[in-house]
Amino acid sequence: MYNRIARLWRQKEPKGQRGADLEKLLAKIDRNRMPRHIAIIMDGNGRWAKNHGLPRFFGHKAGVESLRDIVKTCSEFNIKILTVYAFSTENWKRPQEEVNVLMDLLVEYLYKEIDELCQKGVKVNPIGKLEDLPPDVIEALDMAVERSRLNKDLVLNLALNYGGRTEIVEAVRTIALKVNNGSVSIDQIDDNTISQYLYTSGQPDPDLLIRPSGDFRISNFLLWQLAYTEFWHTTVLWPDFRRIHLISAIVEYQSRERRFGGL
Ligand code: IPE
Ligand code: IPE
Ligand code: MG
Repeated sequence: MYNRIARLWRQKEPKGQRGADLEKLLAKIDRNRMPRHIAIIMDGNGRWAKNHGLPRFFGHKAGVESLRDIVKTCSEFNIKILTVYAFSTENWKRPQEEVNVLMDLLVEYLYKEIDELCQKGVKVNPIGKLEDLPPDVIEALDMAVERSRLNKDLVLNLALNYGGRTEIVEAVRTIALKVNNGSVSIDQIDDNTISQYLYTSGQPDPDLLIRPSGDFRISNFLLWQLAYTEFWHTTVLWPDFRRIHLISAIVEYQSRERRFGGL
């Protein structure tokens, strides 16, 4: 089974028609108008596994290859921030076995990839209620954060035990404490105050949100930050998602007119 799966996910650079399509898309990309911040809901691993008659675990494992490819592509295209939704505050509802698989894959990814991430100038930045993650995950994250802390090319926000509502609740609590101790006054509180206390503090909001796998929902992702983000959607399942899809999304993003409520 491992050989079959290895063949399925080790897709090399597309050849033939797909290679030609990629070339056409690359010719369309305007390198001067790249999104600064891309957010991705890495969804569809379970369906991918099911379609291949495999247990869900293999879908998650295959999904790691997509993450590798997309991080590499973002770094080649000089994207400044990539936020990937890896585990939501609601994903604890899944069977314990599946939660364990997801956590183990994350730990494996971090130890295996950290050298290459550093070589590409990627700064690993976990976001979410990290203190509730298992100790071995926290340890791996601490290692990755420490080793990549001076990197400046691409910030990789790993959304783990992440929930948009929890993020806002935590920000509100912190601000309320500051009001209580007198360091912030109520009329000083504005959009920027809220943004400042979110996990993404100091970062620009995502320009582009990608949801693969066909579902049209936000699933509690970056609720505050997505206010004016351009949404790109595909039925391609995350384990099949490769640079060609990311580039399609960027090309379409560049053709959109962002008005931010203006004319
Ligand atoms: C995304 O794939 C991975 C996580 C949510 C952690 P899913 O496991 O949600 O895959 P589907 O949606 O069941 O296909
Ligand atoms: C969103 O996917 C969370 C992640 C990709 C980590 P889900 O599969 O959990 O979302 P729903 O349940 O389809 O909304
Ligand atoms: Mg899902």
